[in-house]
Amino acid sequence: MARGMLERYDVVDTDVLVIGAGGAGLRAAIEASKYNVDVTVVCKEMLGKAHTVMAEGGYNAALGNVDPRDDWKAHFMDTVEGGAWLNDQDLVEVFVKESPDRIFDLEEYGAAFDRTPDGKLAQRMFGKQRYPRTCHVSDYTGHELVAALVDEVRRRDIPVMEEVFISKLFKGNGRVAGALGIDIKSGEFLLFKCKAIVLAGGGAGRIYKITTNPASATGDGKILALEAGAELKDMEMFQFHPTAMVWPPSCRGILVTEAVRGEGGVLLNTKGERFMKRYHKLLELGPRDVVARSIMREVLEGRGTEHGGVYLSVTHLPPERIREKLKTMYRQFLLAGVDITKQPMEVAPAAHYYMGGVKQTVWGETSVKGLYVAGEEAAGLHGANRLGGNSIADTQVYGKRAGEAAARYARQAEKQLVDQRAVEEEQRRALSFLRSSETRPAKVKEAINETMWENAGIFRTEEGLKRALADLEAIKSKMIPEMGVSDQGSRRYNKEWIEALEAANMVRVAEILVRAALIRTESRGAHYRLDYPSTDNRSWLKHIVWYLDGGELKYRFEPVKITLAMPPGVS
Ligand code: FUM
Repeated sequence: MARGMLERYDVVDTDVLVIGAGGAGLRAAIEASKYNVDVTVVCKEMLGKAHTVMAEGGYNAALGNVDPRDDWKAHFMDTVEGGAWLNDQDLVEVFVKESPDRIFDLEEYGAAFDRTPDGKLAQRMFGKQRYPRTCHVSDYTGHELVAALVDEVRRRDIPVMEEVFISKLFKGNGRVAGALGIDIKSGEFLLFKCKAIVLAGGGAGRIYKITTNPASATGDGKILALEAGAELKDMEMFQFHPTAMVWPPSCRGILVTEAVRGEGGVLLNTKGERFMKRYHKLLELGPRDVVARSIMREVLEGRGTEHGGVYLSVTHLPPERIREKLKTMYRQFLLAGVDITKQPMEVAPAAHYYMGGVKQTVWGETSVKGLYVAGEEAAGLHGANRLGGNSIADTQVYGKRAGEAAARYARQAEKQLVDQRAVEEEQRRALSFLRSSETRPAKVKEAINETMWENAGIFRTEEGLKRALADLEAIKSKMIPEMGVSDQGSRRYNKEWIEALEAANMVRVAEILVRAALIRTESRGAHYRLDYPSTDNRSWLKHIVWYLDGGELKYRFEPVKITLAMPPGVS
């Protein structure tokens, strides 16, 4: 136990610290452990409770098992077209070429994917695919993947510290030196001293009122990285999954997997029309951004249900097929009183996935020596709109790469000293929220959620975004400085204290999203401006890159990396 001026802390020494235990974090830890370095994983939740499990419908790998015409080039084109050409093509090329091998790793770890009658990995259609490419385990693929990765982490004896909130990263001589955490169970501080960090903390769906994301998805990692000197990009690009439950209210936002549409589900408005015929040639399997907007248009134009949704029906499919291929959906709706073999599901879009995040290279490197990123923490691969099934494949391809790169770096790097004053300053900041106040974290989060949902959601305008910005600035300058918790006496399992730290991160993530959305005066992928409805490839094939300069948030533009395929209208 060491003691700072203010507070004591335990010290954990390791070579590679992995922050996050979803698909990317666990895969990074497995890979790093092969390089004779000490690896420690920390996660905010209990092990196994990651958003990765919400990738229910599958894993994209161009194996060509169901249609031999599929190959990495087709997967590449689907990904960049679906991403509205904002994807960095070097990242996409590596991804589509390596994704098939990573699924075989998962099989080695014990994941049992569904098979074709001749014993190959089965593949289903997902949105914006030209061939069936999505490997699956019924409709609980993410669960199976996380379970297999957890087993492998245990087999390798990699220490996992559960329920630890990381509040700050430290550098020494410009390189990663460590991180400060709070052990949520005891409320004590933990100082991690390490040579390399892999940030794989997932997304930030909780900045929106209605989301498929778990409570832990508060964007902490993006702020940790920004403050450590890394850059963020594409922060305006947030994906709304077209189909989440809307009724009963307690189920609002629970994911209704794309696999429903992949298996033949049709979307209907209250007039019984298959409305996607009006919006996209691939109908229900158009890109997610298009399907989400189409559903919202039906609702806004008065053809939605009384709860603000539309219908998704599989009643034309054989009941035994539904129960086999859509096990989770069948049970999930039965619990809500709906038998999907006989009745349609009521669905509407919900915030699902952040395409924006930390700028990375193909090895997960950031601009900070020793800091790596993977999964939803990172940006550049999915462009302006991610394809369903590409996220868990991303966690495996880039989780492995970031783990390997971090371990190789740690093997030759010197451990840097952590500045004691920086530790104390962060302890002081964290402890400052243990005060009595009417402004509680739940209230702050609600204020962020409301303005983001109303003003920075599926349809955006300058007026709405400016309203959101004003709200967020007020939250940042008034609510956050006075935020406090009900129990100031005990830090043990004081989840409200942790929520205060999360809220402080959320407002900053939301603010960058809104600022970026105001700057991008065009529509592209998930970013749709009613006042600028066209995509402008001449002026806007560029990323907005965010960084801190002397504590001040700044941005610059950077061209999209185009290596293999030219976007339309560009020569
Ligand atoms: O709909 C789904 O099953 C989600 C998959 C994904 O986001 O990749």
